[in-house]
Amino acid sequence: MTARTSQEEVQLSDSVSIPLIGFGTWQLDGDDAYDGVRAALEIGYRHIDTATAYGNEDRVGAAVRASGLARENVFITTKCPPGNVGREAQTLDASLKALGVDFVDLWLVHWPPHGEAKPETWKAFIEALEQGKTRAIGVSNYSIAQIDELIAATGRAPELNQIPWNPFVFSEREVAELRNRHVVLEGYSPLKRSDLGNPVLTEIAAAHGKTTAQVILRWHVEHGFVVIPRSRRRERIEENFAVFDFELTPEELRRLDRLGA
Ligand SMILES: NC(=O)c1ccc[n+]([C@@H]2O[C@H](COP(=O)([O-])OP(=O)(O)OC[C@H]3O[C@@H](n4cnc5c(N)ncnc54)[C@H](OP(=O)(O)O)[C@@H]3O)[C@@H](O)[C@H]2O)c1
Repeated sequence: MTARTSQEEVQLSDSVSIPLIGFGTWQLDGDDAYDGVRAALEIGYRHIDTATAYGNEDRVGAAVRASGLARENVFITTKCPPGNVGREAQTLDASLKALGVDFVDLWLVHWPPHGEAKPETWKAFIEALEQGKTRAIGVSNYSIAQIDELIAATGRAPELNQIPWNPFVFSEREVAELRNRHVVLEGYSPLKRSDLGNPVLTEIAAAHGKTTAQVILRWHVEHGFVVIPRSRRRERIEENFAVFDFELTPEELRRLDRLGA
């Protein structure tokens, strides 16, 4: 059992670490994006996930500024759309402008462009890192083979891969492959793609007086997987962060790991 606090972070590089729980903003437009990020930061989240494709970077940036938190105390991720191959630098500049910041903390290739690893895009990412426009670089929806292609072409592994993840798709092999390459695993759609009514989940949730959503998020935290749940309702934004006051037993963790088996 590992006690983890709400301030727990995972190291991406020597100088950069990412908070384990972030606030996802996909499909949050306009006021929903602004209000959601304001609520998340009030509640204690210090990590926000957005993307060029979400069309809400300006509202996310406005909410971060309005929070009164110092820029260095909020970890901001954004993503470059696969269709922007060849225009990576301009895409990041546009993200920085929309967010109203000088740098982001993590910049991801949102999907493998045209289903390919695209080392040329990765080289543009490395350049942006060297220029200080982003503190860390990574990918999303990449296979291990595609990650290896980037490493072979540039000698530099992505610091993180953001992939669909939850106990129902848990794969020890995927975890080991990423870990062997020092690539941090970040899970997306943790709740939407899970069966929140699964009896194993409901039993474990009842044993701790928690919801099944909280059990899923706690499972991520105890494994050290970064996770970015999204909600447009304040009470759920709060619920999804209230996972640092209980611990799953080793047997419960094993049962959750086996849900997808
Ligand atoms: N890299 C990628 O390709 C990619 C793809 C998808 C997502 N993402 C990122 O990952 C984030 C999370 O994924 P997601 O937005 O797809 O799905 P999610 O966070 O797994 O689920 C969001 C859905 O679950 C509901 N929900 C939230 N909290 C709940 C709770 N405690 N109990 C029950 N239902 C709850 C929300 O409804 P209400 O709003 O009504 O609460 C919403 O419909 C995204 O916002 C985005 O930042 C990345």
